[in-house]
Amino acid sequence: MTMNRQWILRQRPKALLADGDLELVQTAVPELKDGQALAQVRYLSIDPTMRVWMAVDSYLPAVQIGEVMRAAGFAEIVESKAKEYKKGDKVVGLTGLQEYTIVSPGDKLALQKVPSIPFLSETKFLGVLGMTGLTAFFGMEIGAPKKGETLVVSAAAGATGSIAGQIGKIHGCRVVGIAGSDDKCKWLTEELGFDAAVNYKSADWKEKLAAATPQGIDIDFENVGGEIMQEVLNRMNLFGRVVLCGLISGYTKDDPGMASFALALVKRLRVQGFIVLDFAERFMEAATKLGQWKMFGKIKDRETIVEGFEKAPQAINMLFTGANTGKTIVKV
Ligand SMILES: NC(=O)c1ccc[n+]([C@@H]2O[C@H](COP(=O)([O-])OP(=O)(O)OC[C@H]3O[C@@H](n4cnc5c(N)ncnc54)[C@H](OP(=O)(O)O)[C@@H]3O)[C@@H](O)[C@H]2O)c1
Repeated sequence: MTMNRQWILRQRPKALLADGDLELVQTAVPELKDGQALAQVRYLSIDPTMRVWMAVDSYLPAVQIGEVMRAAGFAEIVESKAKEYKKGDKVVGLTGLQEYTIVSPGDKLALQKVPSIPFLSETKFLGVLGMTGLTAFFGMEIGAPKKGETLVVSAAAGATGSIAGQIGKIHGCRVVGIAGSDDKCKWLTEELGFDAAVNYKSADWKEKLAAATPQGIDIDFENVGGEIMQEVLNRMNLFGRVVLCGLISGYTKDDPGMASFALALVKRLRVQGFIVLDFAERFMEAATKLGQWKMFGKIKDRETIVEGFEKAPQAINMLFTGANTGKTIVKV
């Protein structure tokens, strides 16, 4: 009998995840029915949206108390009674925060097969070629960058921000990142080619942002919200674009993390929120482009790999304390 460890949502977190919010349980994997396949999860994608799913209905319904926590993952088919999957197939999708998942081909959120690509680690399908890379890609399409414009990216050293900024460089923008440590800022400017990076935890970060954006800001790739977004809006040029990707500063608080919208009016900004799932039909096209950029060294990525399924709750908290750089993944 195969045993499955699962993280179950027991109560809705109040701030960062605390003991008792998620519970680790062990259950037997049920016998497969005809048409089903069993996938063993190798890597789990750790995403800020998981904290939102624990708390409220958003673009997906909140996870119910007592349910397996929702999560994306990379898995391998280990047994199949489905014609669509064979043993050894590699798949990505919503696996849940668990070690095994049963997939039925009729499932709305069935796992998608991914190819084996030489010299490319499987974790890339959760990061640079996965949801966060795709989010950066489509978000930058919404930002409509033009050569010579100034792009500011918040949470710039994270999975989405680091790729969005590099796409801005490919389009010929002046790219300024905002991140939470000097080391992260150094990585952005010295390795990823950002023109400047500002540590928002330094006392004079607003002056530094002003110095780094002498021509104002044309595109805000917004991942954070709150005070950071407010200051970026203060420096936006007329008719600038705000790509509303995330508002992470509010996810662990009651505060929604929104900046004042008065500036959007006065500066005639175009503000567009988006959810990467809106672009599902174009994922293959975007992943191919990202893969080419990655192969030709036009984009670089970094991963924070946390070893051990039991560390998943700590890994989620790392996103909110800034202990991660690049894509955060739990190796099961
Ligand atoms: N719209 C979509 O479809 C979509 C899809 C994926 C992700 N997102 C959004 O994109 C954003 C980034 O997600 P990700 O998966 O790439 O995570 P990530 O950037 O890899 O990790 C989150 C980062 O946010 C920063 N952060 C956390 N709390 C902060 C605060 N209060 N103020 C300023 N910075 C803070 C931390 O870096 P520092 O050290 O710099 O603080 C942390 O490393 C999130 O807002 C997420 O919700 C949206």
